[in-house]
Amino acid sequence: MLLVQNYYIIRTYNSFCQVNLPTGHALIDQPKVSFIVGADNPAGAAKQLNLFAAMIDAYGAHDGPVTNVHLYGALADKGAVDLASLLAKVPVGKAKQKHSLAKRSVRWMQQNLRRAGVIERVPEARGKWRMSDKAKAALTAAEPDVTLVGFSTNLGLALWTSSNKAFEALGEPIHLLLTSPPYPIREARAYGAVTPQQYIDFICGAIEPIVKNLAPGASVALNVTNDCFQSRSPARVISHERLCVALEDRFGLSKMDSLIWHKTSAPPGPIQWASINRMQLNQGYELVLWFTNDPSKVFSDNRRVLQPHSEKHLELIAAGGEKRTASYSDGAYRIKEGSFGNITPGKIPTNVLSFAHSCADQRQYKKRARELGLPVHGAPMPLRLAKFLIEFLTEPGHLVVDRFAGSMTTAKAAELTGRRWLAAEMMAEYVRGGAERFRGTLGFASTLAVGGVGPCMPTFASGDDTRH
Ligand SMILES: C[S@@+](CC[C@H](N)C(=O)[O-])C[C@H]1O[C@@H](n2cnc3c(N)ncnc32)[C@H](O)[C@@H]1O
Repeated sequence: MLLVQNYYIIRTYNSFCQVNLPTGHALIDQPKVSFIVGADNPAGAAKQLNLFAAMIDAYGAHDGPVTNVHLYGALADKGAVDLASLLAKVPVGKAKQKHSLAKRSVRWMQQNLRRAGVIERVPEARGKWRMSDKAKAALTAAEPDVTLVGFSTNLGLALWTSSNKAFEALGEPIHLLLTSPPYPIREARAYGAVTPQQYIDFICGAIEPIVKNLAPGASVALNVTNDCFQSRSPARVISHERLCVALEDRFGLSKMDSLIWHKTSAPPGPIQWASINRMQLNQGYELVLWFTNDPSKVFSDNRRVLQPHSEKHLELIAAGGEKRTASYSDGAYRIKEGSFGNITPGKIPTNVLSFAHSCADQRQYKKRARELGLPVHGAPMPLRLAKFLIEFLTEPGHLVVDRFAGSMTTAKAAELTGRRWLAAEMMAEYVRGGAERFRGTLGFASTLAVGGVGPCMPTFASGDDTRH
């Protein structure tokens, strides 16, 4: 593990990224990170970042094969390599054979792009490469063992990966895992599907290294659907019930609650069983399964999420509280004169959390992704729900992780609430689209270029003079 104190440029398998992490922030010792170039050579690394973006553009702009000669020309046009250094040959290695260093850098980058599945050689055509079919498809899944930094801010790091390696190598305690795992569904969504049979093993496998790294008193909050139905049946699959059992049995976690996210703007459904057969009610909620590894030390504090008192309650306080006496539930609950007369800072929320599905931030994300021609994520969490959970379950400065980050809602909520964050998403386009939500954020730097959409260029706040 590396502790990064300053501004570094990290060289990864198929890209270069700029990471600006505050003191003490752990950076993952990624198995596929070739190595840190270092703050001592930002200009050199920035050149390579340009080269990466320009190469993606050059291959992306052509449907067919691109010869190396054409590629060199395109790169020179974009200023990613200079013509003189392409032509100049210098002695290299012990044999002192003459080579163009610029061409070597381009070929090195080609190999990295090939390994990442972005480009492929045209069979039987020397020196010709093309974009792979996979890279051209709407969504680009990370290769199984590849972990790349998609973008970063002063507080967090978004990884393009499907692997656990980054979390296994993370050497600092995690205070909250907040994630919406892929739902158990029979018909695949754009980002794939996990069948009900695979569901429990899949989720437990993916979160195991995170659970092992939890600080005592940390929470696990899993946003899961309640609406997985058995085949041709109005009966539900009991997937989240099984998941709760597995979290306790396999990891020794204690269940704090199944919070209900009441979707105030849920569309009608399940159509077959509610609207057509009339055997079911319309669905209106999802669950947030909340667990901790140590209930006696849990970081949750409802004082961080108090809600404003109602008008009626404020009137009651102003009047000095209740004027009556009453007893309910066989005396378990009593009202006496003066009850509810104390001035308190706010109302303790119930465990039914009412939030609309869509919010201004989500709408802005979707608009921006469409403008860029990127696929829009189909199942984002409301930002307000993520913010509420993060504020309730962690303290400022804590580390929040999202193992299935999608459009980066958890990351955005952590950023807004002053928590550090680490988010992993397997589809490059979602990471790239999510990066748009961080434009203007302090220390923002992005590297991913997908489908002809280049990396977001950093926007630095004034006075942030550590960036180049
Ligand atoms: C339900 S969505 C999460 C949505 C997210 N909470 C948001 O607000 O946008 C689940 C995400 O998990 C991603 N995913 C599936 N398997 C993965 C894996 N093994 N590693 C990382 N991400 C994965 C999918 O691509 C999808 O974007």
